Amino acid sequence: MIITIDGPAGAGKSTVARQLANRLGFAFLDTGAMYRAVAWACLQRDVDFSDVDAVADVARTIVIQFDGDEVLVDGQNVSGEIRTNDVTAASQYTAGNIEVREILVEQQRRIAGDADVVTEGRDQGTVVFPAAEFKFFITASPESRARRRQEEFAARGQNIPLEQVLADQTDRDNRDAARKVGAMKPAADAIEVDTSDIDADAVVQRLLDIIRGSA
Ligand code: C5P
Repeated sequence: MIITIDGPAGAGKSTVARQLANRLGFAFLDTGAMYRAVAWACLQRDVDFSDVDAVADVARTIVIQFDGDEVLVDGQNVSGEIRTNDVTAASQYTAGNIEVREILVEQQRRIAGDADVVTEGRDQGTVVFPAAEFKFFITASPESRARRRQEEFAARGQNIPLEQVLADQTDRDNRDAARKVGAMKPAADAIEVDTSDIDADAVVQRLLDIIRGSA
């Protein structure tokens, strides 16, 4: 069974998807980590992000693996490094690269295989797994998402004004939604869940109720 969870950054998608996978005993696939991994490898190799072929070559040649919560690129654990601001900023170029998307979409389908998977990203319900049994689109108000991200930064010792977090987030949302391929949007048959006023545990419970047919 495939369960897709799409939506914008900061809506609590990752936490919810991870917990849902745990509760169901399913595998969890973090597809954003794959776009980040390619961006990280490009930065390592000093690849010019405007050179779309060179960026695609990196995606074609690196080996991305998941080991529990760890992300490996060519055997190297990059779990922390792919979450830096530099990689976050650079991932717009890998996410916007049509060839990179084709390569990663194919890998995502291969990783899922025949397994029971909760997969999280932007295009999982629309492009990658259009026949998924359950599709969720997790959203929250821009302010509550920005506040959550600001708290995440603060936990890492970075104090960033809310206005700046909100402005960066709006830029990313616009780019995500405007992308020609793999744009962030709910699938026609996705169930939308707004997490502005409910915590992750309550969201997970709501999804479980829906999946188990009691909602
Ligand atoms: O979700 P996360 O912030 O880790 O995503 C990293 C980058 O990859 C973002 O720019 C996001 O738009 C992009 N992405 C994507 N398609 C996915 C998952 C993430 O384009 N399925």
